[in-house]
Formats: sequence, C-alpha cells, structure tokens
Amino acid sequence: MSPRVVTTATELRAAIVNLLAAAGPGETSLGLVPTMGALHAGHAALARTAREENDVVVATIFVNPLQFGDPSDLDRYPRTLDDDVELLGRHGVDLVFAPSREEIYPAGDPLVRLSAGRLGEKYEGEFRPGHFDGMLTVVAKLLHLGWPAADARYRAYFGQKDAQQLALIRRMVQDLNFAVDIRAVPTVRSAEGLALSSRNRFLSPEEAEAALVLSRSLRLLQERAERREPLDVDSAVALVRSQPLVNLEYFEVVDPATLEPLAFNCRETPFTGEALALVAARVGSVRLIDNQPLEAGLHN
Ligand code: PAF
Repeated sequence: MSPRVVTTATELRAAIVNLLAAAGPGETSLGLVPTMGALHAGHAALARTAREENDVVVATIFVNPLQFGDPSDLDRYPRTLDDDVELLGRHGVDLVFAPSREEIYPAGDPLVRLSAGRLGEKYEGEFRPGHFDGMLTVVAKLLHLGWPAADARYRAYFGQKDAQQLALIRRMVQDLNFAVDIRAVPTVRSAEGLALSSRNRFLSPEEAEAALVLSRSLRLLQERAERREPLDVDSAVALVRSQPLVNLEYFEVVDPATLEPLAFNCRETPFTGEALALVAARVGSVRLIDNQPLEAGLHN
C-alpha cells in the first residue's frame, strides 16, 4: 500500500499521534528511517528492519543542502520522489515525511549547528569539510521531528555502509542524551560485491566494473582477519591502486567503535581482535565509500 506523504512538521506530528493511537493500547514503538531519497535495496533493508521491529514506521526524504560542500553535487543529487514512495510502501513504511528546504530551515541556513568535532575532520571529513556538521544538524532535527511520545519506544535506522556517519550519530545521541535507540543495518551489495549507493547510477559500466576492486580489497583483509594473520594492509592498498580507473583517497583500518587508530599493530602481528577497514575512492566523477568489519577467526 502507498504510504501517506506529508510535507510539514505540523502534519507529521498529527499523523504520528494518530498512527501511535491506532497501534496502542500499551507500549508502542516508532521506527524512523531518515533518507535523502534516490532509494535502492539498501534503503529497502532499512525500511524492512524498521517494519520488523516497530508498530509504526516513518521514513523521511530530504536532500539536506547543509551536508553538500559542492553546490553542483547538490544539484546533481537524484530526486525520484514517486519511485521512492512506492519503494517505501512495498517495504511496509506507514508514513513519509518529504519536507521542503524552507520547512526544515525556515529562517534560512541555521545559525546554530552541531559540530562533529575531531572525528568529523578525519577520513570522509578531510575530503568533505563541513559534511558531518551538516549531516548531524539535520539528523538531530529529524530525530526531534519524528519523536513519538515519552511512553513509546523510539528507534532510528542507518546503514552500516556510512560507517563514519553511523559512529557520529551514535556519539551525538550519547553526548547529547537523545532518547532514541540507533540501529545499524548491514551494507547491501550488488551480486558482484559493489556496495549499493545512490551515486552508483552515475558510474559507466567500465567504472562499475573497476569499482569492484574496493570490495575485493576489503574482502582480502577480512579473509586475513578470519585466519588471524597480520592484515598486510599494503597489499590491499596495492590492489586498489592497480585499477587505473580508481583514484584511491584513503584506506584505513580503525577501531570499530571509536574510528580511532587501532591500539594494536594489525599489519605485522597476528590479528586477534576486531577492527573496521574503511576505503574511499573516486571512480570517474563519482566518490565511493565502502567498509568492512574485521573479526578474528569469524568462521573458524
Ligand atoms: O545517509 C543519508 O542519507 C543522509 O546522510 C541522512 C542520514 C539522511 C542525513 O541527511
């Protein structure tokens, strides 16, 4: 069934109250799925997980100008509202909030914003200055707007693919006492292994083929971690660099919770703990990111 689409905060609040009342009596729950639209199977997985875990599921579609450094990137971001609403309906979403820029930022660009701090300046932040401040600012607003009620459980769903975004949202929720449970949903990949992204549609067939080197390099590390071998990050980096269409921006192996450098030397000593490998590259005009949780002896 096609979900109802509302565009104002007032309509959103009234619709949430009605949906929760219909879901009661007793403790109810609301799952929020924030998106920027141009939805794909990765978003469908967020919606499905939210559907499984909650009485009411609300998705938001808002292309947040604050998190785009380059205005041409913002202009070129795909807008596919009708298809998005249809996909969300197929995956059990009850209500879609698709506000205008003026609805979210009625006074123009906000004077008061969140700062992603030190972590916002690393990895993605080095290549997209200000991106995470803008992302946190809108996520904070969307979490407030979607808040169910004091007596309802509140969960919000984000993809593991944007690992740094997820880590920062978790820190925001912890640092600022947001009453919401942040749920991570595993990355969805194409049959060949490419992590799904709204930007993949801009890749030519040759570029899409070349981009597979990212997930291959991550798998190489995962296999080493499973065998408890030193990770040999250099060989994974060399594999990415061997693909001429792929311009590597960073390849890091970090602590999965903090995204800080690992406390142990994973390159030279047998791998025993947990880590997260992060990679970003430009393939043609498209920036792609991917990551892989690494766990020693996973399948042993
Ligand atoms: O991951 C996204 O699509 C966006 O960064 C988010 C979380 C919806 C905030 O605009």
